[in-house]
Amino acid sequence: MTDATLELTGLRRSFTQAGVTIDVLRGIDAELKRGEIVALLGPSGSGKSTMLQAVGLLEGGFEGTIRIDGEDVTRLGQGERTKTRREKIGFVYQFHHLLPDFTGLENVVLPQLIRGTRQAEAEERAADLLGRLGLGERLHHKPSKLSGGEQQRVAVARALANRPLLVLADEPTGNLDEATADRVFDQFVKLVRDHGSAALVATHNERLAAKMDRVWRLHEGHIEG
Ligand SMILES: Nc1ncnc2c1ncn2[C@@H]1O[C@H](COP(=O)(O)OP(=O)(O)OP(=O)(O)O)[C@@H](O)[C@H]1O
Ligand SMILES: [Mg+2]
Repeated sequence: MTDATLELTGLRRSFTQAGVTIDVLRGIDAELKRGEIVALLGPSGSGKSTMLQAVGLLEGGFEGTIRIDGEDVTRLGQGERTKTRREKIGFVYQFHHLLPDFTGLENVVLPQLIRGTRQAEAEERAADLLGRLGLGERLHHKPSKLSGGEQQRVAVARALANRPLLVLADEPTGNLDEATADRVFDQFVKLVRDHGSAALVATHNERLAAKMDRVWRLHEGHIEG
């Protein structure tokens, strides 16, 4: 067990489109300690999602090193990558990616079943999480019957369902009005703290950023922390 949940060394990512190369991440060195909650701030297009997707082992094509919980996960094969994601990471996508044919409750139950949690326990936990996020009356709605903000809250519950070591959240309250965003974010922080998880949260919202332990500002491909 190491003190650093996440260590990034020289992380670089460029995209070439129609012959034009954009260097989005230009050598990021950063460390997230166990249990720490860090805001990832930066203007639109600065590379927040790109960085979270690299760290969440969702996208390859970067240079540098990513260590999660002391393990170099930079060049894992497909199977190991999936295993690390499943066992250590909870991801809240910028666009929710819920399973459309399953209810909100089922979307939060499924990742727990994959991890081997018993059905009854998984359902109880899913209902508790969704209740805390203000969706107690919406457990059995499918995503298409939920508002954007409600879907976002299901996505938050799903990411936290397995009490991951590392939570990566891409604008987790981006679709919510100010009051609901505050409420959901406060619950999110409470749950993350209860689990002792570390979290990296991309946001445009300075007010939410101020509630976190630290801020990483993404500027011209580097972090100013
Ligand atoms: N698959 C891709 N191919 C080409 N360019 C890409 C790709 N993904 C991202 N980019 C470029 O990388 C830059 C960073 O994008 P990214 O989505 O990481 O920004 P962001 O900080 O998350 O922005 P936002 O706040 O709008 O969500 C953008 O200029 C974008 O055009
Ligand atoms: Mg983004």
